[in-house]
Amino acid sequence: MLATVRRNQGSPAPPPTASARILATGTPRLPAAFPSTIGSPSKRKPPPPSAGRQRGARTPSPDPLQSRLPHVQLPESPSRATLRAIPASPSKRKGKQVERPADELPRILPDHLHPLLERQKRAILKSLQHPPEIDEIEVYGEDYPPTNNAAYEQLSELLTGSVVRGEGNSCMLIGPSGSGKTQIVEKAIAQLPSKPIVVRLSGHAQHNDRLAIREIAWQLAQQTGQSFLPNDPEDAEDEEQSAPAPAEQQAEGDASLDADLDVDADGDDDENPFVERAPALPPAENARLAITLPPPAHLLALISMIPTLPRPTIIVLDGFDLFATHARQALLYCLLDTAQACRTGTGSGSGMAVVGVTARVDTINLLEKRVKSRFSGRMIRTACPAKMEHWVQLAQAVLGASVVSEGAKEGADEKEWGRMWAKAVEAFAGSEDVVEALKETYALTRDFQMFRRIMTRLALDLSPSSPFPTIEKLDSATKSQRCPPRLAPLDTLPYPAVCLLIASVHASASGHDTFTFEMLHDAFKTQVRTSQSAPVQVAGGGVGMAFERLVDLRVFVPAAAAAGSVAKEFALHRSGVDRFEVKKAVDVIGQLSLKRWFTKA
Ligand SMILES: Nc1ncnc2c1ncn2[C@@H]1O[C@H](COP(=O)(O)OP(=O)(O)OP(=O)(O)O)[C@@H](O)[C@H]1O
Ligand SMILES: [Mg+2]
Repeated sequence: MLATVRRNQGSPAPPPTASARILATGTPRLPAAFPSTIGSPSKRKPPPPSAGRQRGARTPSPDPLQSRLPHVQLPESPSRATLRAIPASPSKRKGKQVERPADELPRILPDHLHPLLERQKRAILKSLQHPPEIDEIEVYGEDYPPTNNAAYEQLSELLTGSVVRGEGNSCMLIGPSGSGKTQIVEKAIAQLPSKPIVVRLSGHAQHNDRLAIREIAWQLAQQTGQSFLPNDPEDAEDEEQSAPAPAEQQAEGDASLDADLDVDADGDDDENPFVERAPALPPAENARLAITLPPPAHLLALISMIPTLPRPTIIVLDGFDLFATHARQALLYCLLDTAQACRTGTGSGSGMAVVGVTARVDTINLLEKRVKSRFSGRMIRTACPAKMEHWVQLAQAVLGASVVSEGAKEGADEKEWGRMWAKAVEAFAGSEDVVEALKETYALTRDFQMFRRIMTRLALDLSPSSPFPTIEKLDSATKSQRCPPRLAPLDTLPYPAVCLLIASVHASASGHDTFTFEMLHDAFKTQVRTSQSAPVQVAGGGVGMAFERLVDLRVFVPAAAAAGSVAKEFALHRSGVDRFEVKKAVDVIGQLSLKRWFTKA
């Protein structure tokens, strides 16, 4: 062994710079020389940190290996650093090169995997749009009822009743924001055996009944492609005649609907955008619009005709609580009354379902008695994921989205990437820091939208120079979703300002919640005079300016209205930061004199 070492050291080694250059250019000679020039591989087992140098030293005798060089070419990628441990025989190396990253993740992504990183990012963003389903029984155990699954089943059953058996139904979906209400409604509608007419309204957009009814009329006409006033051809004709003068029709319509519904007392509500655009459309489209939007006076009659439409109708009212604020709850009354009539068999033809969606738990109490009596009283609840493991599994499932589309064949690069990525995601989701960070967010909000925003940011932050999810990236993504701090970091304040802050802590400790500049300055001067560990005296003017700066930053806030008779240095102020924040700043600054003074408080 000693002899070998000596031989190595004594050999005509090129200077280190030369060997470094050889390594840097990526010549394939060096790895090949390493295994073959040394007789006993056992002596090389722990690869020395200065392997480059040793390899360099051996370069004078690579001649017999020249013919093998093409086999052992290392990739030109930066990830070569990760392939440091070179296998004993060149023939084995190729296989190892592929497997190596699975054991040890490269810090910088090799070039040939760059497109796969981009595909992975796209797959993550896609899976955030349609989050993968988590096995709730595995997370919550057998006893815990998976709330959203139960909600989905109840809603599906109800809608199937309307669509298949022609029932009239109503229900309310209640749950916090981001708990999957809209998702459940859409999923339940999509799984129905036949395609119903779906009218989607939102209390945020249709903020009065007139707008809501027009929207219903519009959506019905879009989906049925016909007039829905078949029994009253005169009205349709009237309407067609009045179509060229929409403004007139609007004014007239407004007046009659207001009289009928008491909706908009002021009567100058915004124009219907569809009517306004009508003249710009081709004549055929124009005629259709005219049929679509009958005079508002007749609009309410449409609702009672919904069950006579050829297909069953589902009306989804998002922001259901906002509809309850409409005048006399006329629209809700009509809708629920029609649905109930359908249920009791007085309605004819297709079924109808009214689905209210809301995040407000007391919505039922907002309904007037006559409206409530027509509501079926069916309340379906949704909930956000209730356990920490759910979020962790969700994060793992979202990040683990496959880059290979279903049915496609996996190439070698995809396999290599798949292995690497799975390992990185497993390490990420298994890390305690990550669980802790998710817990912090989860303690603040359980809204899935927040999770989506954080994960989107995390995915966008992945780059070839840092291709895998890390706790740092998660932290920065989470931070971007939090409110920025109200105040600038206190430790960046100038020295005199920190002294004043400490003096204000002392003032508050001695019972003076409000203070003046003079009081603080006095405390500061006393500290300088009496203590050996006093803070450095500050040249005149510095403290006064520091005080004004703190007031500007709103760290010190005026405690009384400014009065002309009170000099500036005697104006009362109060501190906007608490003792712990000042302590943190003093600790960060780390000056012993400041620390000692602070601990006296
Ligand atoms: N438990 C969950 N698991 C997976 N994804 C969920 C879950 N709950 C909600 N989501 C997702 O959250 C997103 C938002 O859900 P959705 O829009 O249905 O919420 P919402 O209850 O309608 O919220 P809002 O009251 O704000 O309208 C959807 O993309 C949905 O896929
Ligand atoms: Mg919603």
